[in-house]
Amino acid sequence: MEKFIYEIPTKVYFGEGQIVGLKEEVKKYGTRLLLVYGGNSIKRNGIYESITKLLDEAGVELWEESGVQPNPKITSVERGVRTCREHDIQMVLAVGGGSCIDCAKAIAAGACSESEPWNLVLHSEMIQKVLPIMCVVTLAATGSEMDGIAVINNPTTNEKRPMKHPKLRPSVAVLDPTYTYSVPKYQTAAGTADIMSHLMETYFSRHEGYMQARMEEALMKTCIHYGPIAMRDPENYEARANLMWTSTWAINDMLKCGRPVTWSVHAIEHQLSAYYEVTHGVGLAVLTPHWMRKVLSEQTVDDFAMFARNVWHVEEEDSYKAAEEGIRELEAFFRVLELPETLREAGVKDQRYFQNMAEKAMPFLKDTYVALTKDDVIDLYEKSF
Ligand code: NZQ
Ligand code: ZN
Repeated sequence: MEKFIYEIPTKVYFGEGQIVGLKEEVKKYGTRLLLVYGGNSIKRNGIYESITKLLDEAGVELWEESGVQPNPKITSVERGVRTCREHDIQMVLAVGGGSCIDCAKAIAAGACSESEPWNLVLHSEMIQKVLPIMCVVTLAATGSEMDGIAVINNPTTNEKRPMKHPKLRPSVAVLDPTYTYSVPKYQTAAGTADIMSHLMETYFSRHEGYMQARMEEALMKTCIHYGPIAMRDPENYEARANLMWTSTWAINDMLKCGRPVTWSVHAIEHQLSAYYEVTHGVGLAVLTPHWMRKVLSEQTVDDFAMFARNVWHVEEEDSYKAAEEGIRELEAFFRVLELPETLREAGVKDQRYFQNMAEKAMPFLKDTYVALTKDDVIDLYEKSF
């Protein structure tokens, strides 16, 4: 195990009705708040009404940045930053999925910087100060509620880039599983695939990490057990609660402590969302089995056999055969989640940008589990198409 520093300062309020905790939390940071949310889902399911009522009772004055789209756009960030500067906003509250939370993080950083928001996305090491970030999670998927990452799209340049900085971790996160009851089947499946991917990206590492691997296996099994239940029975509290807490732990860095690894499939997927607006978790579900087959070799076969035996209970003794069976089990699970199996089904219309996309992914693929060349990435896109 490598040496590390462990510091996750996010205060989590977990469970039904825990939103009440927000009332005291906001008072710590001031009275002027920017509320960041997406389309109409929080108005349809009543979350907007209960939160604005609570903020009103807390004596908070509210500005809004609404209409944040999936794969959040830099234009939403720019508008939010302007609002913060013009009205001397003191804190940012995201209510939604990863896209809203990421947008809120980028706004909170942009509001405290002289730099243009997109420049700050490209150079997040420049971040020195951010407004306090709070979030109310409405979709179990990205784990953005407890990590220091914000992924932002620039449609003008067809770029989707991760901002990374420890100060981007929210100060407060409210996780009420009942807020995810209204998540449609497709987003529930995509969210489950995203959580699984975060775990698999960390699981396949060249560094030793016995304890981390066992925890990842447990969390993967939680997704495998509860993902289909949440799809069949959207108001099943245990299913929603387990997925929600698993999504947080899959990416809050605890599992990476002592066993660092640069993720592979995420960098390759982010280009799909940048060029074709593919739903993040769906892109990952299509790409991951192909990535696994590409990196399966003499050097990695033991890791894949372990994945097959410990996660999927494969009993095959030959390690190569077991590894292949594990990959097939993963594909079968994505089928149970009714996810698209090809990029074409996921919304990728043609192959003309595959070369550009691979070029853009390459800078993020340094020191991955298995080294990939640009041609490998193009091949992955083609095989997944
Ligand atoms: O916009 P609204 O109306 O809210 O609808 C959303 C959206 O259409 C809907 N939704 C969310 N909660 C709902 C709901 N619908 C009904 N009931 C609810 N309770 O779901 C749709 C998708 O929302 P979005 O926020 O885009 O999904 P997700 O949470 O999967 O976030 C995806 C984004 O996060 C990035 C992805 O790349 C993508 O841009 N990621 C962020 C990461 C991070 N910050 O650490 C890591 C991830 O790997 C990922 O890259
Ligand atoms: Zn992800």
